[in-house]
Amino acid sequence: MSSDKMDVFVICAADSLEQSNAKAFSLSRINESGEGRPFPIVVIRTHANDYFGYVNSCPHEHIWLNFGEGGFFTPDRSFLRCGRHGSIFEIDTGLCIDGPCKGQSLEPIALAVVDGDVCICGIELEESGYQDPFDDGDDTMEIMIHPE
Ligand code: FES
Repeated sequence: MSSDKMDVFVICAADSLEQSNAKAFSLSRINESGEGRPFPIVVIRTHANDYFGYVNSCPHEHIWLNFGEGGFFTPDRSFLRCGRHGSIFEIDTGLCIDGPCKGQSLEPIALAVVDGDVCICGIELEESGYQDPFDDGDDTMEIMIHPE
C-alpha cells in the first residue's frame, strides 16, 4: 500500500441514508502493526442534512449502540440511545447526557460528503474488508448488526 495515498474511503452514497436516520457499518481498521481490526461505525444523517459518524460502541460497556431492537434513536429521534441500558447521547457531539455513562462521549469519526458520497477521512481502513458500494450494486458492506 503506497504511503502517499490519502486515507479517504467512501462509506456510502449520501442519499442512501434518509434524513433522521442512521446506519451501521462493519469496517476493518489497520492498527499500528498493520493488522486489520474490526471497526464498527454508525453514520447518522440528521433532519438538517448533516452527517455525523461515531464508533458504534457505547462508552458504558462497549457494546454496539443498536443493541436489542436495532434502533439508534430515542423515539422522537432527537438523540441517540443505547439499546442496552438506555444512555442518551447528543447527535452532534456524541456526549452522553443521561444514563450510566453520563458525561462520557462516543468516539467521533471525521466524515466528509464528497461528490454525493459520505467518506471517512484520516483513518486507514483495510480494503479487503471493505466493499465498494458501487461495485455490482452489492450491498454486503452495509452490514446491519443484529443481536441474534
Ligand atoms: S452499554 Fe450502553 S448504556 Fe450500558
